[in-house]
Amino acid sequence: MEIIITADAEEVGRTAATVIAEALRRADQPVLGLATGSSPVTAYRHLAHLVAAGELDLGGVRGFALDEYVGLAAEHPQSYVSVIRRDVVEPLRMDPSLVHVPDGRAADVYAAAAAYDRSIAAAGGVDVQILGIGANGHIGFNEPSSSLASRTRVKTLAERTRADNARFFDRPEDVPMHCITQGIGTILDARQLVLVAAGAGKAAAIAAAVEGPVSGMCPASALQLHPDAIVVVDPAAASQLALADYYRYVYAHKAAVGAGKA
Ligand code: F6R
Repeated sequence: MEIIITADAEEVGRTAATVIAEALRRADQPVLGLATGSSPVTAYRHLAHLVAAGELDLGGVRGFALDEYVGLAAEHPQSYVSVIRRDVVEPLRMDPSLVHVPDGRAADVYAAAAAYDRSIAAAGGVDVQILGIGANGHIGFNEPSSSLASRTRVKTLAERTRADNARFFDRPEDVPMHCITQGIGTILDARQLVLVAAGAGKAAAIAAAVEGPVSGMCPASALQLHPDAIVVVDPAAASQLALADYYRYVYAHKAAVGAGKA
């Protein structure tokens, strides 16, 4: 893994946007993996600047979101199909017909989840996947105890996740109980992973993901199994990393692209 500790949260987003833009420019038929939540918002804003400046064209890029709530109406402002359209597709000038979100409203959500997994593979796989991390170490909505080999499926949200996401809803009880999420195995199939985190609330999860054992109890620790995973964090999110000074040293002495990878 490459660990990049930036000066602040703004630089987390700028750095992630730079890595993502490079990956998409390199790809023949680029596929971008999308996350929702607060963490990637700054990266999306920097990507939108590149698009507005004419330095990046995402009009032909296909997109796949990580997850969706089960049973939330598509027009609900917090359904991920709404969030992706509002926060990603429109500002990044993507083609809405090329951007996909799991169908949490399907009559058979289990079949919809399996079909979604197949559709990612049929598109040739994800070139670069942006990830946030839950305070409990989840990626996508793969909660602790998820299989490291899991595929896209229906999951029950952890109480901690529902409490954390209650800020987006009028009442805590409005947060859905279930979701469809790409599995950890699905996420690991992406050719490059870029995980972003900022704030002290993510410090324990980042330390467990980067320096803890690889375990389903910390789903983000699966990134240790990926050959091209980049973790971009601000100083607060890095504050529990035992080797923070080493990661800074490696990054400062990075001789060439990739030289910082463990
Ligand atoms: C969102 C997702 C989640 C979030 C995580 C962090 O699509 O898959 O894993 O990335 O819950 O959420 P924030 O960024 O809101 O702290």
